Amino acid sequence: MVFKPHQRLHLGAEAEVWSGQWFGRPAVRKQRRPRSWRHPNLDHRLGVRRMISEARLLIRTRKAGLSVPSVWDLDYEGGQLIIEHLGGRPLIDVLNDSATTQKQAQSILYMVGGAVRRLHRVATTHGDLSSNNILVEEDTIHLIDFGLASIEYDVERFGIDLHVLDEILGASHPQWKGAIDWVIEGYLAAEEELGPAPVLQGGAIPSASEVHARLEDIRTRVRYHG
Ligand SMILES: Nc1ncnc2c1ncn2[C@@H]1O[C@H](COP(=O)(O)OP(=O)(O)O)[C@@H](O)[C@H]1O
Ligand SMILES: [Mg+2]
Repeated sequence: MVFKPHQRLHLGAEAEVWSGQWFGRPAVRKQRRPRSWRHPNLDHRLGVRRMISEARLLIRTRKAGLSVPSVWDLDYEGGQLIIEHLGGRPLIDVLNDSATTQKQAQSILYMVGGAVRRLHRVATTHGDLSSNNILVEEDTIHLIDFGLASIEYDVERFGIDLHVLDEILGASHPQWKGAIDWVIEGYLAAEEELGPAPVLQGGAIPSASEVHARLEDIRTRVRYHG
């Protein structure tokens, strides 16, 4: 066994996550957990598919220059994924820390918006943009947990990605009023910086302002239909 476990970081429904060492380097092991209510064969197939998808999208987005963990090993039969351990603190801790100033929160959420836009520009939605799945390390935002990520071109999927973050900021961090607005500012500014939304193999990526408009539509829909 080359992974030397050090500390359990998280026991989720889908995976058990440990920090440790991989050939002497700080690493994270995600071990898929069997879900007893599903048929074992089906369960294994679904779990394997997710893990391969997570590894594939981490590799793809890292190649595109995003700050996501490197993939070091994938044992899909054994349901294990070994990735680079990234530094920084989860956004949830930063936003819940009473020492965090409004100015800091604003600048971090602006950078988060930029990181999400960079992800979207490579035709990828995260699928689970909670404040647990975003790490803040000084001026760098790392995105982790690509288990629900997917390749998309439809504006609705990008809008939903932002909406998940919007709901979490409102529900878990209500003390930061206007938090989503700072995210959106950063999301739109990234496009200013990087140029028009790219056209890739699978089609055109919706522009940042199209995604923003769609987020507003989704919010209205949710408000009226629950
Ligand atoms: N590459 C990593 N670097 C640092 N911490 C990580 C890394 N991957 C996961 N973690 C920590 O472990 C937690 C659970 O991992 P995650 O990939 O989100 O699994 P789950 O699918 O169970 O949510 C994260 O919220 C984070 O605190
Ligand atoms: Mg997670």
